[in-house]
Amino acid sequence: MPIVSPSLLAANFADLKSDIAMINRSEAEWLHLDVMDGVFVPNISFGFPVLEAVAKLCEKKLDVHLMIVEPEKFIKQVKALGAYMMNVHYEACPHLHRVIQQIHEAGMKAGVTLNPHTPVCVLEDIIQDVDMVLLMTVNPGFGGQKFIEHSIEKVKALRALIERTKSNALIEVDGGVNGETGKRLVEAGTDVLVAGSYVFKADNPEEKIIELKSLS
Ligand code: DX5
Ligand code: ZN
Repeated sequence: MPIVSPSLLAANFADLKSDIAMINRSEAEWLHLDVMDGVFVPNISFGFPVLEAVAKLCEKKLDVHLMIVEPEKFIKQVKALGAYMMNVHYEACPHLHRVIQQIHEAGMKAGVTLNPHTPVCVLEDIIQDVDMVLLMTVNPGFGGQKFIEHSIEKVKALRALIERTKSNALIEVDGGVNGETGKRLVEAGTDVLVAGSYVFKADNPEEKIIELKSLS
């Protein structure tokens, strides 16, 4: 049974309170928060003032996905939110090992995120040190995009690397996740499903969360 981490990016920003109340009632374990800086990705989402308001209302674990350059500058601020998981991009961190250490020293779980073009093999020397690998299954920056098919093979390659190295890292996927792609991703070895549009744009978001949770 996968962990489900609905992405707030697809929520109604004019009424976040209602959407967070829905998440609190739902069977989702985590809430996925997408921070974009307009530099690392060609879009800007929300920043700390919004995250602080969300963190106060949300009873689920916060899964923060930083699509920003120099994410290490914000470790303290992410920790102050009470975040459970801080995900940084491999492509944004020339000193990834140090950043992972700093996230752990701050008392959070550390996730490393790969863009669609970045192969799983670059994780060979860091896989033992991370708590999660977040595979982007679309190009980061926007919700509602089409799932990249090659991601299925990537999940399998990552599962093989984790088994070979006896790493405890979870596999999370993000982008274009729905009932159909979600099923194949879980079959391939995914532990955590992020879903934005599929959950928040649905008539009954709580049912969509139950559907994703029931995939095996
Ligand atoms: C994209 C974000 C995703 C996004 C996914 O850059 O990282 O978390 O919200 O949206 P959907 O599920 O609509 O593809
Ligand atoms: Zn994300």
